Amino acid sequence: MKGATMKPGIRLKPALLFALLAVSLSFQARAAGNVEAGKDVFATECAECHSVREGKNKKGPSMFAVVGRKAASIADATYSDPLKASGITWTPDRLDAYITAPKKLVPGGKMKYDGLASATERADLLAYLATLH
Ligand code: HEC
Repeated sequence: MKGATMKPGIRLKPALLFALLAVSLSFQARAAGNVEAGKDVFATECAECHSVREGKNKKGPSMFAVVGRKAASIADATYSDPLKASGITWTPDRLDAYITAPKKLVPGGKMKYDGLASATERADLLAYLATLH
């Protein structure tokens, strides 16, 4: 009767593995969807003025590695004085506030963009920006 000697701890393992797999699969599926959607949002809302290529500035500075960067820190981009003086570091939180209402976070700044009202689109966009490294 070898089967009857199975410890509860051993019987738990397959269930635990299955749960972990399910969680990680659903996480990956959602993360991938957000990034793809965010890429589209970027193309429609931001690409006119921003490139995602390192060192390529258009009307606005490159968005390469923007998450975690200090505001107005790209040497050959031209920035407004209010943005230079803002002391902002582009955490996801600050980026969200800026994209919601650029003029509110940086009064007198020169990003001519009215803001993105949809919280879902902003979350997708932030997921995409976080991949630019
Ligand atoms: C009409 C052109 C235009 C559009 C559209 C635009 N931006 Fe900008 N953006 C600028 C300019 C110009 C600046 C510099 C602002 C300043 O110096 O005050 C800027 C600055 C920024 C900065 C600060 C970067 C740094 O190095 O400090 C971020 C972040 C940013 N934009 C993100 C976005 C995102 C995300 C979108 C799309 C939702 C967007 N912008 C849409 C022109 C634009």
